Amino acid sequence: MAVPLFTLARHNQPLREELHRTFEKVLDSGMYILGKEVAEFEAELAHANGLSPDQVIGVSSGTDALLLALMTMDIGPGDEVVCPSFSFFATAGCIARVGAKPVFADVCPVCFNLDPDSFAASLTPRTKAVIPVHLFGQCAEMDRINEIAKDHGIMVLEDAAQALSARYRGKPAGTMGDFGAFSFFPTKNLGGFGDGGALFAHDPALAHKARLMRVHGGHPKYYHSMIGGNFRLDALQAALLRVKLPHLADFSAARATHAKGYQDTLLPNDQVFLPSEGQCHCLKDPASPNPNPSPRKLWLPHAYQHNDSIWNQFTILVDGPGAATGEARDSLQKHLRENGVGAEIYYPVPLHQQECFASSEKPELPIADSLAARCLSLPIFPEMTPDERHEVIQTLLSWLHQK
Ligand SMILES: Cc1ncc(COP(=O)(O)O)c(C=O)c1O
Repeated sequence: MAVPLFTLARHNQPLREELHRTFEKVLDSGMYILGKEVAEFEAELAHANGLSPDQVIGVSSGTDALLLALMTMDIGPGDEVVCPSFSFFATAGCIARVGAKPVFADVCPVCFNLDPDSFAASLTPRTKAVIPVHLFGQCAEMDRINEIAKDHGIMVLEDAAQALSARYRGKPAGTMGDFGAFSFFPTKNLGGFGDGGALFAHDPALAHKARLMRVHGGHPKYYHSMIGGNFRLDALQAALLRVKLPHLADFSAARATHAKGYQDTLLPNDQVFLPSEGQCHCLKDPASPNPNPSPRKLWLPHAYQHNDSIWNQFTILVDGPGAATGEARDSLQKHLRENGVGAEIYYPVPLHQQECFASSEKPELPIADSLAARCLSLPIFPEMTPDERHEVIQTLLSWLHQK
């Protein structure tokens, strides 16, 4: 049986009629950019996250949400922004695009997110902000990150592109820093029908500024004391997202069921481990992983008690001979694909090793390097059937037990 990494057609099928009706409603409205649909989507998103409607700004993509936040903070040449090296490119790309310097910090080997100690060690008098990323649907260690940021007077922009509605100690992702950036890329837990994103802004004055910057920064229209861009969300995108938003909790719950299913079935195997039962390495749990390179073994992702992951990805680490160079992981990916199981590498090159950042001094970030060589994301989508999950598991085990 073939198991895709994700299937958008299957995911959106149950809402097909409502989506069709919504398309027609927007078509007939003649209002295609911003307007009522976007305002109502912003209000609904705000309500779901305990914010007021003026704190939520619908934008054209997750990348643009990051860029808009950095522009709203007036970050530019001469400034430094710290971000984790293990993330999607946009996190660092946006820092460079406003002319600032991305300063790469290492990550936690257990939750994969920004290591607060490495963040603290990366600060200089030029640091203006930090971008913790809530990778794969689980929040970074925000209490410590916020504490360090506050002590040094720098702003916090949460890259919550993969984590809408995840919670850290009960608080929604994207509401703990000064800004939160979200993506509605189709495979996200709340996936649109093209590109889309949202920016949460804590401070009402900054929220107001970001809203103006979304439309080139004119105030009043055509009078510019600042330079913004076109970061607008389409009415159609907002209207279709409004159809899906009430189902977000169910989508995430179905993903969580699959994550638990993977864990329950795989963990009794003596070559499969959870990195740490209790707290994250970010909080200095002594039981954090110390991978032994031989024999083949797998580490499963772990959601911590104080973190409600939304399981945007189920990312395992592959150890054994050839793990350090990526050979072991690549061999498992090949095996899965040859047997019809989708598996993807998020992300094969840590940001500090990207060619476009080669001119900056290269920090030593051993955990980011090691995760990039060992990570592999398995199928986890709401509509996946137990039989499909079983197929993924059996294919995984057949590789693990190969000699
Ligand atoms: C961590 C992270 N940041 C930013 C983005 C950018 O979002 P978008 O693709 O909507 O521009 C993504 C998208 O995959 C992401 O995963």
